[in-house]
Amino acid sequence: MFSTTLLPAAAIAVLFISIIVYTSPCASFGTGGFSVRLIHRDSPRSPLYDPNLTAADRTTAAVRRSISRLNYFESLMSSPMEIAPKLTPDDGEYLMFFQLGTPPVPVYAIVDTGSDLTWLQCLPCKTCYNQTQPLFDPSKSSTYKKVPCSSPSCAALEVKECTEDTKSCYYDLVYGDGTSTMGILSGDTLTFEDRFRNNVTFPNITFGCSDSTYGTFEKNQGGIVGLNRNPFSLISQLEVKQFSHCMVPPDQDDSGSRMQFGSNAVISGDMTPLAFESTYNYYLILEGISVGNDKLPIPEGIFNLTKDFEGGFIIDSGTTYTLLRREAFLVLVDALGEKIHLQQKADPSNRFPLCFVAASFDELASAPVITFHFKGADVVFPQQSTYTKAFDWLWCLAMLPSNDISILGNFQQQNFHVGFDISKKLVSFAASDCAAF
Ligand SMILES: *[C@@H]1O[C@H](CO)[C@@H](O)[C@H](O)[C@H]1NC(C)=O
Ligand SMILES: *[C@@H]1O[C@H](CO)[C@@H](O)[C@H](O)[C@H]1NC(C)=O
Ligand SMILES: *[C@@H]1O[C@H](CO)[C@@H](O)[C@H](O)[C@H]1NC(C)=O
Ligand SMILES: *[C@@H]1O[C@H](CO)[C@@H](O)[C@H](O)[C@H]1NC(C)=O
Ligand SMILES: *[C@@H]1O[C@H](CO)[C@@H](O)[C@H](O)[C@H]1NC(C)=O
Repeated sequence: MFSTTLLPAAAIAVLFISIIVYTSPCASFGTGGFSVRLIHRDSPRSPLYDPNLTAADRTTAAVRRSISRLNYFESLMSSPMEIAPKLTPDDGEYLMFFQLGTPPVPVYAIVDTGSDLTWLQCLPCKTCYNQTQPLFDPSKSSTYKKVPCSSPSCAALEVKECTEDTKSCYYDLVYGDGTSTMGILSGDTLTFEDRFRNNVTFPNITFGCSDSTYGTFEKNQGGIVGLNRNPFSLISQLEVKQFSHCMVPPDQDDSGSRMQFGSNAVISGDMTPLAFESTYNYYLILEGISVGNDKLPIPEGIFNLTKDFEGGFIIDSGTTYTLLRREAFLVLVDALGEKIHLQQKADPSNRFPLCFVAASFDELASAPVITFHFKGADVVFPQQSTYTKAFDWLWCLAMLPSNDISILGNFQQQNFHVGFDISKKLVSFAASDCAAF
């Protein structure tokens, strides 16, 4: 057995100023850009889609995932001396589609902005979960290679074993809930498509070819794509300085949801500076909230990140519902209750704190919009990304209270181009019909 060392949260502050030291010369895409299809786990196009679930079941699961992700971020930040757990990868919201190897085979993998190594199950497999997509067969890819033990990438692995006879660098990655993957550190050609569906290839992307996977993985996912800021992540390997995403609401045909990289990234609209960035997430400065034209009486600085890494406001695509510090959440709930003249009723499933009886969304279509006043950027959330259907007769504010960190979730980011300019440390918001993009 190997032991594992996970990144302590204290390292986050250091990584804020650290630079990416590991670069793969083959992976650079120069001035070009590319684009990746994102598929929401609950979209009928997703391999994780379960037709037997009701809309209410999916909402309940999304609330559970939002809260577990909040707890994860809080555990990362609040106990710097303890070992930080990695997120359970099953909690991911989006799958990324790409092709691997030569000839290319399709892979759907869960996007995890909290982890770094991209991995998938490969043949021959010792202990693998049953997946519906075919296992990747390295022997059938003419461009597949093992990463040599002598390479800096192998040396950079937290846990590894180099076997002289097979000359392979064997990794062992354990997530917070004990699920794990082990296998051979490998390189192969990754193919994405650009916005015009042309193929964009990267010849030597490092990934894990898992031959032993333990824990609860869903059979329809092919693996994990790591998108944090550590050296093994795709963002770091591709030396991406700009990216953006535009997410179509999952109840629409979400074939238009995309993540754009490099020159394809849409960085436009109002810009707000990053207050702080860790390897796991991006903090923004939220100065206030309005309902209609009225600025809410929220305590000043309530969303500030303290010196002890408490509080703060994160933008995260892996959390579904926005979570707001309770002090601000209660003020928001009061203001909406006052301005929306529909009968209020408690959510029978106890998921959302503010719900209205309404036979259809139309009854909420004239509700006052909510504006988040980020430093330099006023972001107006349309009613469609403010309320969610809890039951056929009940619509709820799609936000939850938090005791510490606040998070802008993906439900509220739908139909925006959300752009990240890592060099300039800016995040941009431009309202858009993502399905039409
Ligand atoms: C849905 O339910 C049917 C009947 O119970 C079952 O046969 C089927 O396997 C289920 N589908 C999924 C994806 O669980
Ligand atoms: C995977 O599927 C095979 C064949 O259907 C079955 O024999 C095996 O027990 C399954 N393994 C697991 C871990 O479910
Ligand atoms: C592929 O990338 C790995 C990891 O960076 C490196 O060790 C290896 O030399 C590269 N192979 C080629 C052919 O560039
Ligand atoms: C991209 O690659 C796939 C897989 O090889 C191929 O089927 C498709 O035709 C290619 N698309 C373009 C535009 O070349
Ligand atoms: C909160 O942060 C803003 C921006 O950094 C700063 O101007 C303000 O003084 C802070 N407020 C409190 C109460 O810390």
